[in-house]
Amino acid sequence: MAFPSPTKNYHTTSYPDIDPTSARLSTKGKNVVITGGGSGIGGDTTLAFAKSGASNIALLGRTEKTLLETKKRLATQYSGTAISTYAADLVDKQSLERALATIHSSFGTIDVLVANAGYLPTLQSIADTDLDEWYNGFEVNVKGNFNLIRAFLPHAAEDAAVINISTGIVHLPFLKGYSGYHTSKLASAKMFDYLHKEHPNLFVLNVHPGVIVTAMNDKTKDSGTVLPFDDVDLPASFVVWAVSPEARFLNGRFVWAHWDVNELKGMAKDIESSDKFTLGLLGWP
Ligand SMILES: NC(=O)c1ccc[n+]([C@@H]2O[C@H](COP(=O)([O-])OP(=O)(O)OC[C@H]3O[C@@H](n4cnc5c(N)ncnc54)[C@H](OP(=O)(O)O)[C@@H]3O)[C@@H](O)[C@H]2O)c1
Repeated sequence: MAFPSPTKNYHTTSYPDIDPTSARLSTKGKNVVITGGGSGIGGDTTLAFAKSGASNIALLGRTEKTLLETKKRLATQYSGTAISTYAADLVDKQSLERALATIHSSFGTIDVLVANAGYLPTLQSIADTDLDEWYNGFEVNVKGNFNLIRAFLPHAAEDAAVINISTGIVHLPFLKGYSGYHTSKLASAKMFDYLHKEHPNLFVLNVHPGVIVTAMNDKTKDSGTVLPFDDVDLPASFVVWAVSPEARFLNGRFVWAHWDVNELKGMAKDIESSDKFTLGLLGWP
């Protein structure tokens, strides 16, 4: 399956314009929080922020072991970046509040929040699936990110950037078995739109990261839908670009990591003066 793209160049791996080692994209002095930083896209996003010189990166997830592994992987090579880990379940409001308050008191206000952690319910039809399994998509992707937003706001820098790692599936009409994921990720993306409208001082962006080999993606291997894989350094680098001043014209939008950032910049006026790349109803108005 090949996807349509609003830019001529459709990337599947990182490229110089989004290279996190570029001085243009430096995050030196910034405090970054990444949920699900112990594995997959979150782990490599942590690496990209370390490459861009972030001063502090706080990793959140339920499994302390994987968070510590990410920290260990980067600690020696990126000694200018302090990495801290917080074992917290997004669904547990109190543990999130404690973690975000500790991050604020240890490092200062939070400049960048990457809401990356997510849950993919087992792929089955509505008729066949187990309700609790299906609903866990809403527990983690909606309630969990609701808790995250609420725990983050009191500790956010005035002009903080918030990136929600969503999925391009929300733009597709139907994918067999994906109802639990599709509906909960759609609801979650809309919730981040509300964050944007309610806090215009923040930068908020929904991002489709691409199709990446991860533990979560492995659950889709028998789904019968074959999607082409992208390199994990594509979304990782793209997120670093997205929190830079260059990307501010995308505030409140939903973009795919594949889209060429130079071509997007060329479309800035059109994007800012229209509802381009926002969620709505196809064919209306
Ligand atoms: N891989 C893809 O092809 C793809 C495509 C589109 C979108 N995405 C999105 O990308 C994001 C990252 O997924 P991934 O593919 O990198 O999968 P992954 O490697 O399985 O990572 C998911 C991460 O979320 C964390 N997590 C899950 N439930 C949590 C909870 N209740 N509280 C705190 N942390 C929790 C996990 O850590 P613990 O288990 O330790 O808590 C894990 O680190 C997700 O939002 C996913 O929807 C992925």
